[in-house]
Amino acid sequence: MFGKETYQQRRTALKNSVKGGILLFLGNNEAPMNYPSNTYRYRQDSHFIYFFGIQLDRLAAIIDVDEGREILFGDDYTLDDIIWMGPQPTIREWAEKCGVKETQSFGNLQQYLQKAQQAGRKIHYLPPYRDDNKILLHQMLGIPFERLKAEASVEMIKGVVALRECKTAEEIKEMDAICDAGVEMHLSVMRATRQGVLERELAGLAEGVSLSKGAGVSFPVILSQNGETLHNHHHEQYLENGRMLLVDMGAEAMSGYSSDYTRTFPVSGKFSQKQREIYEIVLQANMETFQMAKPGIPYFQVHLNAYTVIAKGLTALGLMKGNPEEAAKAGAPALFMPHGLGHMLGLDVHDMEDLGENYVGYDETIQRNPIFGLGSLRCAKTLKPGFIVTDEPGIYFIPQLIHNWEKEKKFEQYINYAKVNEYIGFGGIRIEDDVLITETGCRLLGKPLPKQVDELEAVIGK
Ligand code: GLY
Ligand code: MN
Repeated sequence: MFGKETYQQRRTALKNSVKGGILLFLGNNEAPMNYPSNTYRYRQDSHFIYFFGIQLDRLAAIIDVDEGREILFGDDYTLDDIIWMGPQPTIREWAEKCGVKETQSFGNLQQYLQKAQQAGRKIHYLPPYRDDNKILLHQMLGIPFERLKAEASVEMIKGVVALRECKTAEEIKEMDAICDAGVEMHLSVMRATRQGVLERELAGLAEGVSLSKGAGVSFPVILSQNGETLHNHHHEQYLENGRMLLVDMGAEAMSGYSSDYTRTFPVSGKFSQKQREIYEIVLQANMETFQMAKPGIPYFQVHLNAYTVIAKGLTALGLMKGNPEEAAKAGAPALFMPHGLGHMLGLDVHDMEDLGENYVGYDETIQRNPIFGLGSLRCAKTLKPGFIVTDEPGIYFIPQLIHNWEKEKKFEQYINYAKVNEYIGFGGIRIEDDVLITETGCRLLGKPLPKQVDELEAVIGK
C-alpha cells in the first residue's frame, strides 16, 4: 500500500469531480473454483485498490459527497476464520491505513443506501462486472439486472478515468519494477526455447517467474507457435525448428500494477529470410510508434502510421499493392493486423476496461472509427504526460480471415491475394512494449527486452 495521504488525495479529487450524492465502491470477493472454499487467486477490484488500497474480500466503501463522510463497510474476521488464516488486521486498522475515519458493519450498507435513495440522493456506482456484485447492487438499489450497466454513473466513470489515466511518480515506480519482472519472464522463455520443448513448459516457467516477483501473471499467458491466433492460450505443441513462437505475457505486482510484453522469435534461434522480412516490418511499426508517442498526439494517428508502415512493407514484398497511405486510411492492413496498436496499462492490463473502452480510450474529441481494424483501437485519444500505453503492432496470417476477404474480393485494389496465400501457415508476429508518456516525449518502462533480430538471435536457446 502507498501512504494514506495518497488515497486521501485521490478520494478528494474524485469527490471534487462530481456534483453531489454518494460514491459507492464494491470490493471484489473470493471466487470459488470448484467448491466454495477452494478459490481462484484473489484479485481486488482495481478501483477499490486505487482509492482505498485494501486487498481483502467482503468490503465496500462510500464517499458521501453531500455529508463529507467516508465509510469503510466490512466485518472483522471471526476466531473461526483466524484459526485457518492466522491473525488479521481489523477493519478499523485497515481504514486507518488508507485514511478513512469511519467504519461500519457490512450489513449496514444497504440501510445507508436505501435511506439516501428515499431522500432522493444520487448514488453513483461503476459498471459491475462480477456476478456477485451485480446481485448485491440489484438487491440494495432495486435496479433490474439488465439496467445495472446502463445506470452506472457516467459522472463517476469520467472522474475515475481522469484520475487513473495519468500515473504519478509512485505509480510509475511500481510500473517500472513490474515491467522488469515482465522482462525477466520473457528472458527466461527466450533462453529455454529450443526444438522439442513443450510450449506448456515455457508457459509454466514464465508463470513461476511472475510468482517469484509478485502476485503472478497479469493475464493468462499467451504462448504459441500459432501466433496468428491473437490470444492463443493453448500450449500443447512441441517446439519445432522452422516455426516462430509468439509470447505475450506480463506480471502483476503485489500492489496490483501490471506489465504486458510481446516478443516473437524463431524456435531455432535463427530467422529465415521470410521470417525476417515480415519481422522487420513489425519492428519498424513498433519503433516508429515509439518515436511518435508524445503529449498532444492522438494515439489514433500513431495507429494509422503503424498501418501505413505495414502497408508500405507488405507492398515492397508484393503482398499489398497501390498507395500505402490510402490503403492504411481505408483499413486494408486490418487483414494483417486486425487489432489496435495499443491500450492503456496500469492496475489493469487493459486499464479501466471495465468502465467501457469508449470512456477510457475515446473522448469528446475523437469517436471510434467504424472501419474494421481502425476501430479496433482501444486507446485512440490524445496522449498526455503520465499515460502508459502499449506499443504492439503485429502482422498475422489468419487463414479464415484471408479466405473470407478473398471471397468477398475485399480491398482487391490493395491486396495481392495470390501472394498472401503463399504465407498461410506462416503464423503471426507481434512486438509489444510498455511506454510511459513523459512531458516531452516518451520512454520505455522496465529494463530493455531484446527485440532487434541480432539481439534475439544472441539470446534464444542460450
Ligand atoms: N497482452 C494482451 C492484450 O493486450 O490483449
Ligand atoms: Mn497488450
